[in-house]
Amino acid sequence: MSAAILVTTSTETARKVRLAGGDDLTVLQPQQLPATAPQLVAMAPEPDAVRAVILDVRDGGVAEAHALDVAGRVGGQYPAVSLLLLTDEADRLALPALRSGVRDLIDPEVSVEELRLVLRRAGEAAGGAAAEVDGFTGRVITVASPKGGVGKTTLATNVAAALAQQAPQGTVLVDLDVQFGDVASALDLQPTYTLGDIVVGPGLSDAMTLKSLLTRHPSGLQVVCGVHNPAEADVVTPAAVDTLLRLLKQEFRYVVLDTAPGMSEQTLAAIDHTTDLVLITSLDVPGVRGLKKELEVLDELELSPSTRHVVVNFADGDAGLTVKDVTAAIGREVDLALPRSPKVPRSTNQGRPMVSAMPKDKVSRAITGFVGRFAHLSSGNRWNGRHRGAVR
Ligand SMILES: Nc1ncnc2c1ncn2[C@@H]1O[C@H](COP(=O)(O)OP(=O)(O)OP(=O)(O)O)[C@@H](O)[C@H]1O
Ligand SMILES: [Mg+2]
Repeated sequence: MSAAILVTTSTETARKVRLAGGDDLTVLQPQQLPATAPQLVAMAPEPDAVRAVILDVRDGGVAEAHALDVAGRVGGQYPAVSLLLLTDEADRLALPALRSGVRDLIDPEVSVEELRLVLRRAGEAAGGAAAEVDGFTGRVITVASPKGGVGKTTLATNVAAALAQQAPQGTVLVDLDVQFGDVASALDLQPTYTLGDIVVGPGLSDAMTLKSLLTRHPSGLQVVCGVHNPAEADVVTPAAVDTLLRLLKQEFRYVVLDTAPGMSEQTLAAIDHTTDLVLITSLDVPGVRGLKKELEVLDELELSPSTRHVVVNFADGDAGLTVKDVTAAIGREVDLALPRSPKVPRSTNQGRPMVSAMPKDKVSRAITGFVGRFAHLSSGNRWNGRHRGAVR
């Protein structure tokens, strides 16, 4: 059984942490925070069981400088204790926190469920080998297609935006279209650090460093944007993709990947981590043929993520082909058919995903409905460790 210490003036925060599984929780007021790490840990009834110390550094809470000082001392003397800061200024605090050995930053608006995951990860990180056995791994949703221009980026950004509406702190989108990725443009982001910077710098050394290099969308969605220049893409090796995804899926409940057309080496590396492969095609003969081949290749290579989903885009009456024809050609059901809509390119050009900008539009509704299958499985069954429901 692990214990935690929370320093806050907020009864609401204390209630949340307790609900999130902190039964064995010691709540202190900021003025009770002792000067040394041993004194702090000794404030818990069972000091040896303490796995997390959470300091609320919002206005009226623990002074930031003091909190960072405590973090450094706790980290140095108690490697089995994770130090977490509760702050609504994550962007500003990320780097100093990282330097002081803070394990994670918690947004005060976090849901109880999200907080439960944060505490669990903190416990696992502190427990070392325990993480290997009972490792938290998020759902990795990879959007891929054999052909270009069929709507991968549109779908990936919208799926990520829809998941972020449910889990704002728990969703990350990665642009794995390493040469010509345009996720940043589709979300109107100007990244300071890109995938290339993360891979060449210290970004893959640990989760906290990696998180400090992500680009935050106003919705809360975290993004690994594509490289600035196609020439930089060489550094994104399959091994780098492997390490990146290993770290992200330990930290985020949903990891959504946009990919380049075809089976690039980065996409193949990602498929190893993928729990949900979303294959998308346009409603035309070359597209559907390509999809059929891709499904066959995946079978031959025995690259079979646990769940596959098939999406047909530009599904309208003008194609001379129907969704039923696709079903017959590929020998399985189509999971989502997206109509062609002039609003989609408009939303791409404005950098605002359909599901956020026009939630009531039919394309948005279709995508939100589709996303329900990921959210349902993770929140209702898998994450609470209850019986796992039927997977379509
Ligand atoms: N359902 C739709 N209706 C109308 N336009 C769409 C639809 N889906 C996507 N588009 C538009 O088609 C274009 C290509 O879409 P997108 O960039 O998502 O494809 P992609 O598969 O990521 O392309 P690439 O392979 O080049 O990365 C974009 O301008 C997008 O706005
Ligand atoms: Mg794309």
